[in-house]
Amino acid sequence: MPVVLDGKAVRDAILESLRPRVARLVEEQRAPGLAVVLVGHNPASEIYVRSKVKACEELGIASEKHLPTGDVSTEDMLFLVNRLNQRRDIDGILVQLPLPDQVDEQEVLLAIDPSKDVDGFHPISSGNLMANRAGFRPCTPAGVMKMLEHYGVPLAGKHAVVVGRSDIVGKPMAMLLLHANCTVTICHSKTQNLAAECRRADIVVAAIGRPAFITRDFVKPDAVVIDVGINRVKERDRVVQMFGDNPARMAAFEKNGSVVVGDVHPEVFEHCAAYTPVPGGVGPLTIAMLMSNTVASAEWRLGITP
Ligand code: GUN
Repeated sequence: MPVVLDGKAVRDAILESLRPRVARLVEEQRAPGLAVVLVGHNPASEIYVRSKVKACEELGIASEKHLPTGDVSTEDMLFLVNRLNQRRDIDGILVQLPLPDQVDEQEVLLAIDPSKDVDGFHPISSGNLMANRAGFRPCTPAGVMKMLEHYGVPLAGKHAVVVGRSDIVGKPMAMLLLHANCTVTICHSKTQNLAAECRRADIVVAAIGRPAFITRDFVKPDAVVIDVGINRVKERDRVVQMFGDNPARMAAFEKNGSVVVGDVHPEVFEHCAAYTPVPGGVGPLTIAMLMSNTVASAEWRLGITP
């Protein structure tokens, strides 16, 4: 039977380890401060931001939301970011992506003070990651590393295949695995013979954003499969094809009219050594690592060594 890699258990362990660090910051100086910028009304972004603010509340991190309207200009965003950069009580600045088309996303991310870049998207943070120097790591790939560490998945000398080359997940994921001494292959939409590349992997990380794309023929027996995808599927045929033999998931579909699935097809699970479920796998770790980065930022900025 495969091991189910439980993201909620790992998240809880991370959050528990942060509690005494937050308590010390509060006692000796002040609570860590996170500013979240959410532009317009993107429903998915609104849900993410709500979860991030809730996690702050539960941990005792001071959070504040900034809500520019959907027609905001790049200039106004830069003005807001610069104000937050100058605030001494703000340790982390998170600009929820995507931004509307009229806003130059790269310019805005570049404007964030790298010492407050808790998302780890600033080129300074990417450079630190590349050079294996201390710095903020993007939250989702950092969460995957915590998951692998928590479950004692051996990495040194193993072949890891990352499917997806985004700046937020694929590229930093590959770099983190490389620093853990994996042999790393990055695959993407133009990769030839993708299934064969993936079949060579001891560890597959799927971060492509296509529901149930990774099927059984992509995965060698006894591989560890990490699913970063979060996709909503509404077509009944597709849901039946994926979950026809799973009464709980079919009942959820009948109730909600859609199901959330990862990039990995459920048929893979019984043939691998371990896998992350969706939901409940990698998802909960992203916010836990944001909290971790925010606490670390406050400690760095206030000169406290954990
Ligand atoms: N949009 C989707 N994922 C993320 C994330 O991790 N951080 C930010 N800022 N925006 C996102």
